[in-house]
Amino acid sequence: MSTYTVEDPRKVTTRRLAEMKAKGEKIAMLTAYDYSMAKLIDEAGMDVILVGDSASNVMAGNMTTLPMTLDQMIYHAKSVVKGVKRALVVCDMPFGTYQGNPLEALASAIRIMKESHAEAVKMEGGAEIIESVERILSAGIPVMGHLGLTPQSINKFGTYNVRAREEAEAEKLVADAKLLEQAGCFAVVLEKIPATLATRVSESLSIPTIGIGAGAGCDGQVLVMHDMLGINKGFSPRFLRRYADLGTVIEDAVGNYISDVKSKDFPNESEQY
Ligand code: KIV
Repeated sequence: MSTYTVEDPRKVTTRRLAEMKAKGEKIAMLTAYDYSMAKLIDEAGMDVILVGDSASNVMAGNMTTLPMTLDQMIYHAKSVVKGVKRALVVCDMPFGTYQGNPLEALASAIRIMKESHAEAVKMEGGAEIIESVERILSAGIPVMGHLGLTPQSINKFGTYNVRAREEAEAEKLVADAKLLEQAGCFAVVLEKIPATLATRVSESLSIPTIGIGAGAGCDGQVLVMHDMLGINKGFSPRFLRRYADLGTVIEDAVGNYISDVKSKDFPNESEQY
């Protein structure tokens, strides 16, 4: 039984997230990739639903997020949007669709907004992509930044370890966060960085920070749905809290079904016409 009830049933907007930060109300964000799960997550009272390019890992079975295409992200976002009434829906811009040049980035973001009806896009990086961020924002498309561990750069960094432990990288992250805020981003995801650094960034920005493995000082938290529901069984980093063991529930249910079919117990007389 859920312990949470939605206090404010109004549609969540980027402006509302800013008000939440100002009031000290934490923002809850979770990923979703399909209609049915998005509907359940929205009805539970989630503030923001992220159509993450982690779909590449948890939906498509890839090792990294890099193979995800714009068409695939639009397909997932379109399905999610149909299930959501209250949450703000943010769609990841996949690798290779915004790093080239600002006009290409704008064209990709416009396709996401037009074809999926998501309400914002998320982009990984700071100074390197700022012109693309500005170009997209200038078209009236809200942008969520993403700093720290940026999975689309896995081949550059070589590991998914904690980022910005060294001073130079931490200072660049602080400067990038400011740059994203000044450009007009409505929020920034901080992934897998020291909690003290995430707190410092959160306190220095007027826009909300959403942490994943970045400690309690962030203005909100995000997790990948499959991880927190225990569907992605082998994945258990320190930052992850598991709220269910759906992997086991599903295996047990499927096993019982197979056994009922094999033993001729299913279907019985009342389950046929
Ligand atoms: O793709 C994703 O799921 C993400 C979250 C981990 C923030 O970017």
